Amino acid sequence: MLKAITGTKDILPTEIQRWKYLEKVVEEIFTGFNYKEIRTPVFEETALFARSIGEETDIVGKEMYTFIDKGKTSLTLKPEMTASVVRAFIEHSLGKYQSLNKFFYISPMFRQERPQAGRQRQFHQFGGEALGSTSPLLDAEIIIIVYKILSGLGLKDLTVKLNSLGVPGSRENYKNLLREFLNDSKDKLSGDSRKRLDQNILRIFDSKVESDQEILKSAPFLIDYIDEESRTDFEVVKNLLKQSNIPFEIDPKLVRGLDYYTKTTFEIVSGKVGSQSALCGGGRYDLLVEQLGGEPTPGVGFAAGMERILFACENEQSLNLPEENIDLYIIKLDKNLSSKVFDLALYFRKGDLVVDYDYLDRSVKAQMREANKFNARYVLFIGGDEFQSGKLNLKNMGTGEQKLIGLDNYSEIINLVRK
Ligand code: HAM
Repeated sequence: MLKAITGTKDILPTEIQRWKYLEKVVEEIFTGFNYKEIRTPVFEETALFARSIGEETDIVGKEMYTFIDKGKTSLTLKPEMTASVVRAFIEHSLGKYQSLNKFFYISPMFRQERPQAGRQRQFHQFGGEALGSTSPLLDAEIIIIVYKILSGLGLKDLTVKLNSLGVPGSRENYKNLLREFLNDSKDKLSGDSRKRLDQNILRIFDSKVESDQEILKSAPFLIDYIDEESRTDFEVVKNLLKQSNIPFEIDPKLVRGLDYYTKTTFEIVSGKVGSQSALCGGGRYDLLVEQLGGEPTPGVGFAAGMERILFACENEQSLNLPEENIDLYIIKLDKNLSSKVFDLALYFRKGDLVVDYDYLDRSVKAQMREANKFNARYVLFIGGDEFQSGKLNLKNMGTGEQKLIGLDNYSEIINLVRK
């Protein structure tokens, strides 16, 4: 039997209502902050991701879906969206038309990771990117937007983790310091961390190995070595969050898995989704646009994992969505009335009612079962003696009340059902 690829999931009609609701909340909140939607292609040139996310990162090194197309170009299914947004921003010279551009997106992403709860190979992110200002007001705004979305979904068990990575100059000095510190305990580090020592030393803080974390307990933290400007901006971000009643904690070990960050970084984690607890992550990337060939333009943004968020909503039972129903189900008592039912359904649908009927010539009992399955608010019976005497029988499924309506008076049915 052919099956969906490992790490991918069908989103079935029974789950769609929750997805649409999440998308609606995302769109409403972003729009309220004047972010404009952007959609970019599902694949890009591989070089885009290598040059932005970083050659030494897990995403570029191990997780990308990369293939050579018939034109012999190396293409990659997008593992994240920031690089694509920046590429589009540069390609269409969007900075020329507007000095500050605020974008949001909802899109599938692709990473060949080991699938587990909260980690898929095709997953969905929504996110926002603000390009054109170094103002820490935007750092705070970005965090407030995603916090508002998550709390708007009723999620309670949330922790905002905040850190600052400073600018590359101060970071290089710090990396040397950390390397010196870790050199003493090099032999005690796990294999993965030893590799990171040379390649991507900051990621050692992400190690899940207990003995690594023990060693790191007394390590110097980057936050204590960042430059003056980063420090001042960080203070502003913290004050703005306090002022907006967003609870947060400083996490000096939050280094993030992508190379483009400068200054503020953050994640929001949920206590309700198991080990893959980050619902979203983001931060500032002031050098990325020029790194990709554009005019120097600072930026800040985040992305959030939609599967993880919906999983958290399920575990916290935070979404109380109304039961889905249809307005009207038409039940025919005589088989030869099919084309009449067909016409009637079209007429009622034109009146903006959600209408369905039986296509399988089933018994009245089976049609009634179907009406109940669809949670029909009203059922319209057509056929039998009533139909012979020019009437249809409309039943309100909530109250059980029935009403005979003349065959020349369909608009009354629309009015009654619409109420
Ligand atoms: P990221 O931390 O790689 O950041 O991903 C953001 C979120 O996407 C994660 O917190 C998680 O919820 C979700 N996510 C990531 N990988 C998976 C997966 N394999 N399965 C399910 N969910 C996943 C970025 O992508 C950056 N582009 C964020 C950003 C935007 N920074 C600045 N602007």
